[in-house]
Amino acid sequence: MTVFTEQTRERAREIIARYPADRSRSALLPLLHLVQSEEGYVSPAGVEFCAEVLGLNKAQVGAVATFYTMYKRKPTGDYLVSVCTNTMCNVLGGQEVYDTLAEHLGVGHDETTADGKITLEHAECLAACDYGPVMTVNYDFFDNVDPQGALGVVEELRAGGRPMPTRGARLCTLKEMAVQLAGFADERDGAVADGGPGEPTLRGLRLAEQHGISVPGFDPNTPIRSKAEADKAAAEAKAKAEAKPAPAPEPVKPAAATGSTAPDVKAPDDKSPQVRTAETRQPDAGTAVADAPGTKVPTDTTAPAPRDAQAAESAGVAANPPAGDGKPAGDEAGAQQRNLKEAEAGAGANGAGPAVASETGVQK
Ligand code: FES
Repeated sequence: MTVFTEQTRERAREIIARYPADRSRSALLPLLHLVQSEEGYVSPAGVEFCAEVLGLNKAQVGAVATFYTMYKRKPTGDYLVSVCTNTMCNVLGGQEVYDTLAEHLGVGHDETTADGKITLEHAECLAACDYGPVMTVNYDFFDNVDPQGALGVVEELRAGGRPMPTRGARLCTLKEMAVQLAGFADERDGAVADGGPGEPTLRGLRLAEQHGISVPGFDPNTPIRSKAEADKAAAEAKAKAEAKPAPAPEPVKPAAATGSTAPDVKAPDDKSPQVRTAETRQPDAGTAVADAPGTKVPTDTTAPAPRDAQAAESAGVAANPPAGDGKPAGDEAGAQQRNLKEAEAGAGANGAGPAVASETGVQK
């Protein structure tokens, strides 16, 4: 009998409906979080469930589930304590934090305490290097921890308490967090309003303010809405858009002096926001910058002879064993040879290319 309830299936349908019909396999990542929310890990039954609802095979699901460390392959505790031991945190004491917890809890990496409360793992960069050393509990941050502080957190958890993270929402269990990671809102009253950003996070904003750099329309005080508020705002925006009359067509302006009869349409400014931002910060960014002293610019512009490339590609394709599913691992050798011949013919016809080898190897 399946461990997954009708509610799980309903949620699975909701997740899949977020993606275009012909892209439903993109729903696999949230679906894996969904099955993890039921069992605390991605079990063989969870893999089978995802495969069934997405029309994939179990090997395809398993390949994804075993690639990402957030999908656990054995039962986990209520609280996943991840200690960053990557470079920045390590030099600031992350390894001492990890070693202290491991010794105190009597578990190693990816192991769970006998009471089933805590699973410990070391992590390689939790993307909060400016708060190092950091640890997370179910992906909520405890910044600038030291061994004693970390011990205090895990002891409070084992005693049934829920210490407040330094930033972000209040703690929940790993299964509850997996529901959120599957894309469902944290419905606890006021949960999303907990915790504010830390000062290192705001440093860029402060510098932008100091230097008068701003993004049009950005409101730093934009409130974080609850799901109900967001749904209501979306419904209002939709109703407003539907009620709005279609804009009247632009009057056609007289033809320009060029004699063109096409309407005078202003070319859209298609620069990306990143380019505009860069130009705002450095208005003369288009000025050529001299090479750094000692830079060597290659001057040999002779292209390699196609015959060498052709031989190398053919040899590479021949050496590729077929993939396990029976499809060829590389491109078909005949097609590559045809493409190369067409490229050679094209270059010859243009007369613009470098010396090109013919089929017989004669340089033209
Ligand atoms: S090195 Fe620890 S968060 Fe990046």
